[in-house]
Amino acid sequence: MDNSTQFSVKVIKGGPYVVSGNFKLDLPSGEVKEYADKTFFCRCGHSNNKPFCDGSHAKSDFDK
Ligand code: FES
Repeated sequence: MDNSTQFSVKVIKGGPYVVSGNFKLDLPSGEVKEYADKTFFCRCGHSNNKPFCDGSHAKSDFDK
C-alpha cells in the first residue's frame, strides 16, 4: 500500500468507527469521495446521515 491510501480504523465503544488517513469512499449513489483526515462512520444504525456518525449513538442504548 502506498502513502496515498494508508489509513487506520479505531472502534469507539458505544460510538463510531474512526477512520484516520487517506482513503476513498465509494457511496451507493456511485459518488466517490476522498478523505484525508478523521472520518466517523456509524456503527449503531441510528445516524440520520449514514454512513457517517451524526452523534445519535449518544441518545441510544448502543454500548457495543
Ligand atoms: S455511531 Fe454515531 S450515530 Fe451511530
